Amino acid sequence: MDIYDRYVDVNSKDWLARALNYLSSNGVVNLRGLVPNPKIIKINEKVKKVLSTPSYLGGIGFYQKDSYKKTYDGFLLGKEVVETISDERALDLIEKYISNKVSLKEVFLKKDLGYNHQYFPYHKHTGSYVVGDVNKPFGCAALLYLHDTNDGAFCFALKSHLLKTERGENGFLSAHKDKSKIEKNLKKIVGKKGDMIIFDERGFHGPEQPVKTPRTVILFGYQSKVYTKNQSRTGIPIIISDMQNLNGRQLDAIGVGGGTREEYNEYHLRASSSVTKKFGLIKRFIYAVIYFDFKLTSFKNFLKFFLRN
Ligand SMILES: [Fe+2]
Repeated sequence: MDIYDRYVDVNSKDWLARALNYLSSNGVVNLRGLVPNPKIIKINEKVKKVLSTPSYLGGIGFYQKDSYKKTYDGFLLGKEVVETISDERALDLIEKYISNKVSLKEVFLKKDLGYNHQYFPYHKHTGSYVVGDVNKPFGCAALLYLHDTNDGAFCFALKSHLLKTERGENGFLSAHKDKSKIEKNLKKIVGKKGDMIIFDERGFHGPEQPVKTPRTVILFGYQSKVYTKNQSRTGIPIIISDMQNLNGRQLDAIGVGGGTREEYNEYHLRASSSVTKKFGLIKRFIYAVIYFDFKLTSFKNFLKFFLRN
């Protein structure tokens, strides 16, 4: 697949106008220089820790519902992530592009494990869950690259955001009548650690798959407050003190005071009952370990008490 490596340095003159131009004409833009190096190092330290152990028995760790990826709630990675995702330069760009105030749709960490399988096909978001004209920009999704990314990078079909969108249409590229034409414009967005890729969610996109190389990103998105009636896709967990450096605009953008379209426990990161049922044996094993550990501790305490007296 062809590579797309254009970017806009947010520390350069007229970056906003150039970024807006790329986003409007191609449907995607790579913002470079948004995250200071010490911040991305801190984020990666936290990511490494979370990805080192699964979440069980109330301990902090990654979630895993299939063989292909590990996930985690983005904002629970800490204030560095909260501040990066709500960076006002990203908000400036997206709000200008969609001509509206925005609210956060979702934010999560995703490590694709390089399983050499296409589990997540190219698709577009058809806006079946928003109100208003879906042939106008209603939201931008985004990725924060946590390392230099080539194999397994995010891919986007340039200009596909300009194609007509029918509300509720089948959003998979494989189902589109102009599939081969669109495929010719699919580009692999290679980038550096700390790059923020922002794209119109109506354009066809997805990760390069199958690949054997793992890839770790923070995925998120902002949508028009009008189109979504100021509702995020799901309840987004956050540590309250991690919002201490945000201003009113940022708090409003991440959804403080807003609603949600989907219950917290219905979000795709959370284990559904059908998934947990498969692991019933593990659950019973954990219960047994807890039970015997409790009995053992009680017996030791009894012995200590008995010997003392
Ligand atoms: Fe998507």
